[in-house]
Amino acid sequence: MARVLVILAHPGPTSFCAAWARASVEAAGGMARYRDLYGIGFDPAERGTFYGIDGPFDPLKAQEGLPLPGDVAPLVADVEWAEQIVFHFPMWWFGPPAILKGWLDRVLVHGRLHDVDRRFDTGSCRGKRVMFCVTTGATAIECGAGGKEGDARLLLWPLAYALRYCGFDICEPVFAHGVHGYVEGTEKAALEARLASVLADQPRVIAGLADRPVWRFNADCDFDSDGRIKPTAPVLWPFIAR
Ligand SMILES: Cc1cc2nc3c(=O)[nH]c(=O)nc-3n(C[C@H](O)[C@H](O)[C@H](O)COP(=O)(O)O)c2cc1C
Repeated sequence: MARVLVILAHPGPTSFCAAWARASVEAAGGMARYRDLYGIGFDPAERGTFYGIDGPFDPLKAQEGLPLPGDVAPLVADVEWAEQIVFHFPMWWFGPPAILKGWLDRVLVHGRLHDVDRRFDTGSCRGKRVMFCVTTGATAIECGAGGKEGDARLLLWPLAYALRYCGFDICEPVFAHGVHGYVEGTEKAALEARLASVLADQPRVIAGLADRPVWRFNADCDFDSDGRIKPTAPVLWPFIAR
């Protein structure tokens, strides 16, 4: 069984997101570690005082050169321990909740999980996989290609690319769309049945993580020495286009 780290970024312990995260932990069995970022009171706003710095603060230099803050050290150890990381979070304002952005800022520590010689194709987390399990209030059509809420896969790109920068493979995400409390009667019953089937499917999803399709990104050799995509390289995402 793989070493699976499950990270929840949702403030509600009774939310569907939280239930989904617990289903992942259960499916991963005894080898799982679980971090509920709100539950542990994680402070996502990186700043100098965490390192005993009152004046000018250079986060990259502090992360690399000073002892890690006490709340961050075990979270970094989690990442180093894990072979697979499963993130559970809701879509909030077309991206992950701020607490998860702050996890990137504080836990993907410069000098340890990435540096100038270990990034992208040479990232320190090569061989490890991540998967996002995401709820949206909007429907599948609204979150799809051409949908009014923006393609949810593209909205995940900045989060995915931060992890790709550290060398992770990014598995196809799982979405539960149309999740909200504003339905009644038969619509509510249908939503509950749909969500129950997402939970029931999670053991299969977790068991298949090692073989799950991954997102393609441009390789280091697709860029010229200035960091611009070469004319011959494939354009895989609208964020890196010619
Ligand atoms: C601050 C906030 C921002 C939200 N922004 C979006 C959004 O951009 N797109 C969307 O589809 N749903 C959005 N929603 C709805 C949530 O995604 C939805 O309530 C959540 O996925 C439901 O899952 P839960 O029951 O586990 O909380 C937002 C909700 C909140 C509270």
